[in-house]
Amino acid sequence: MHIPLDRESNWPLFRQIEDYLRQNILSGNLPPETRLPATRQLAEQLGVSRITVKNAYSELESDGLIGSLEGSGTYVMSLPSFPESLGNETEIAWPLWQSELTMGLEQAVSTFLPGTRPGLISFTGVGDPRYFPTGDFSKAMLRVLRRDGLAALEYGNFDGGYPPLRDTIAHILASQGINAKSQEILVTSGSQQSIALVCQALLKPGDTVLVEKPTYNFALDLFRALKLKIVGIPVDDKGMQVGVLESFLQKYHPKLLYTIPNFQNPSGVCMSAARRRKLLVLAACYNLPVLEDDFVGDLRYDGRSQPAIKALDPGGFVIYTGTFSKMLMPGLRVGYLVARGPVFHCLSHLKLVSDLTTSTLIQRTLEEFVTIGRYQAHLRRSQRLYRSRRDAMMAAIHRYLPEAVKVYSPQGGLFIWMKLPEPLSSLELLVYAHEAGVDYAPGPRFFPDPEEGKGYLRLNFAVQTLEDIDKGIMRLGMAMERLAAE
Ligand SMILES: Cc1ncc(COP(=O)(O)O)c(C=O)c1O
Repeated sequence: MHIPLDRESNWPLFRQIEDYLRQNILSGNLPPETRLPATRQLAEQLGVSRITVKNAYSELESDGLIGSLEGSGTYVMSLPSFPESLGNETEIAWPLWQSELTMGLEQAVSTFLPGTRPGLISFTGVGDPRYFPTGDFSKAMLRVLRRDGLAALEYGNFDGGYPPLRDTIAHILASQGINAKSQEILVTSGSQQSIALVCQALLKPGDTVLVEKPTYNFALDLFRALKLKIVGIPVDDKGMQVGVLESFLQKYHPKLLYTIPNFQNPSGVCMSAARRRKLLVLAACYNLPVLEDDFVGDLRYDGRSQPAIKALDPGGFVIYTGTFSKMLMPGLRVGYLVARGPVFHCLSHLKLVSDLTTSTLIQRTLEEFVTIGRYQAHLRRSQRLYRSRRDAMMAAIHRYLPEAVKVYSPQGGLFIWMKLPEPLSSLELLVYAHEAGVDYAPGPRFFPDPEEGKGYLRLNFAVQTLEDIDKGIMRLGMAMERLAAE
């Protein structure tokens, strides 16, 4: 056996032998049951003392990589088996600290496993990628690289984000009635990060967070992962039932209220202006921070918009988050937080220590793209497109689904929320739906107690063509018929 040794090196010879053998065993070059040379023989071959080889072998032996059989020599041992796929991970005896880590994950109910089988019509996801403004965006990126050179590839601004982008966001917000100074805007890597930062800043395990019931599934899973107590306030066609809020405040002493007042995910409803005002008054009385998640506020197809809760905030009660994920492209991973007072500095510091900054290149490109008016043009195009798709889906629902199905037709956003006729379960239906070639998000994902969501499902109307919307809802109708027949 030839083992290259560096006799000039400070690294001891026995370690060099050990390293060489270890690498070859782990890479499979020396498979299990390979007989290693006897220590005397290897020592002679390498021109080292026998004790050097013995030391190397004993290190490998104590790590279980080799073993000696009395009288018959030293052999490479079989390695412990490692997982080949996620599927069999649960069967593996992980080190204790790892098994403890899995606790809590079992409660997460959302998955990113959208159906991708050929021909499957999926009503999950966000906007339609076929309409992402990729051409204009890539031209904007080239302009930025030419204009800004290396500055576009540096870390960039650690204290809130790229200043011109913060100015642009302030302008967009002003057009929605929110007066925010650029210094109150923190660029984040999407609203999901905004929510996580707010939790880090304000909550600790065991604290209570109030949410709408139903609500955004990955916010629920984040709260579960952070070991928060989640209490849901029911939603009706005017949004969160703020009338019951005070009793919840008195009973649970929450540390945060998380709300999606516009085209709520998943219900599609908007909170009435009166409820927004009342919520703010209660938050002020009970010293309760409010996190307002406005993920698709701009995607309105009809009706009048209500003032953002942040726009009514006399100062410092509401933390607002918005995102470019739904209006532009989710892969940009750019969102923003608006906050005033000490909490802004706390959030900005947490952002810094979490990921330093959101991509400088993407922030600069976004600013270039948005300021030249393409954002507004893209938004108008999306509104026209998604309105026609919402109408097509509502028409198909009336055409193909039983009358006992209850749906809410939203004035904007991306989702139609459906209540199935009793006693149908959206989880059981999903099996038949997949067989029929259609996919949706089942209701349990959106409830603090998943049991409560069995009778509901969420359909994304924005992501498929008119033709596929019709076909997909027809398939859903067939799946419902099969399930009901059983
Ligand atoms: C209500 C809501 N908030 C936040 C997010 C996360 O968005 P982002 O891509 O900006 O992290 C989503 C994504 O679907 C959402 O539906």
